[in-house]
Amino acid sequence: MTDTKFTPRVFSGIKPSGGLTLGNYLGAIKRFVDMQGGQFETIYCVVDLHAITVWQDPKELANATREVAAGYLASGIDPEKSILFNQAQVAEHAELGWIFNCVARVGWMNRMTQFKDKAGSGKDAEKASLGLYAYPSLMAADILLYHATHVPVGEDQKQHVELTRDIAKKFNHDFKVDFFPETTPVIEGPAMRVMNLRDGSKKMSKSGESDMERINMTDDADTISKKFKKAKTDPEPLPETLEGLADRPEARNLVNIYAALNDMTNEQVITEYAGAGWGRFKPALADLAVAKLAPISDDMKRLMNDPAEIDRLLGRGAERAREIAQPILKQTYEIVGLLRS
Ligand code: TYM
Repeated sequence: MTDTKFTPRVFSGIKPSGGLTLGNYLGAIKRFVDMQGGQFETIYCVVDLHAITVWQDPKELANATREVAAGYLASGIDPEKSILFNQAQVAEHAELGWIFNCVARVGWMNRMTQFKDKAGSGKDAEKASLGLYAYPSLMAADILLYHATHVPVGEDQKQHVELTRDIAKKFNHDFKVDFFPETTPVIEGPAMRVMNLRDGSKKMSKSGESDMERINMTDDADTISKKFKKAKTDPEPLPETLEGLADRPEARNLVNIYAALNDMTNEQVITEYAGAGWGRFKPALADLAVAKLAPISDDMKRLMNDPAEIDRLLGRGAERAREIAQPILKQTYEIVGLLRS
């Protein structure tokens, strides 16, 4: 259900921890760019408060925040068309996050698979920060602070957006209001789950052991090309139909990446490369990836040479974000009955 009383508004965010990968680009940023300037108001955030749920070196965090901002800008997020800011500059996120900590149930949090993956089990899980456990409720606050109706994310964030809907429903029910929208997750396209280049059963992530298993958005042309050419595959050529990829995770991943980079469906890629061997497909993929990604990587480096300008843009974005967030938080306090004299 998308409530018509709410302005069509998109919110999404990326953590500044460990640099951007091709997964972040295809699963998130590229789609954020596509949603810009259309029917939605678009708000994009560098979620630094989420990053510190695991240890971040204070000397590096500000630069990592700027680097994600540079990634957004270099990929085509226009700070005039979208609101672009970092979370720490809008304190309302943390305030609404606290209220949602009091709405969400411990049982709901216990079901979050990403916490289990990140925290491990037994004694390890006990050493995880309380912030890591509560993180999905802060994510719900990020979204609902703007009454966002749509949230584009990769597949791995689906459960968190569903939790956001549960929090909105429970808040509305408990306080007998129709105040927070039930946000729709937007998870579509061929690259909702970009996999590791060395093991097609694992997600491509910032934190994997080997650099060869991921494409970083700051990789130069030679590195991008080398990583695709060395990507793990099976010995079979590409199949004639999509069904032929069903049990071939590595092959499917490379087809998905090609499709997403070139704005095609995976059917179209299979039609074009039916029966092709890796000797033909991999160089084509490497060339395509270099053509699409190297200019972004170059532009990120250029932007990073002027950190003051990035800071200025993020500060301005934060002011605009606050204009939307403040009245929503104020009404939330009133609904909850918190006194502010
Ligand atoms: P984060 O920083 O881990 O990832 C940012 C976005 O990139 C997507 N993504 C991927 N998509 C496809 N394949 C992959 N291998 C891949 N890796 C990452 C993620 O799905 C995400 O869309 N909790 C969020 C950040 C967040 C947020 C929010 C998102 C905080 N508040 C509010 C949306 C709305 C996270 O950790 O994303």
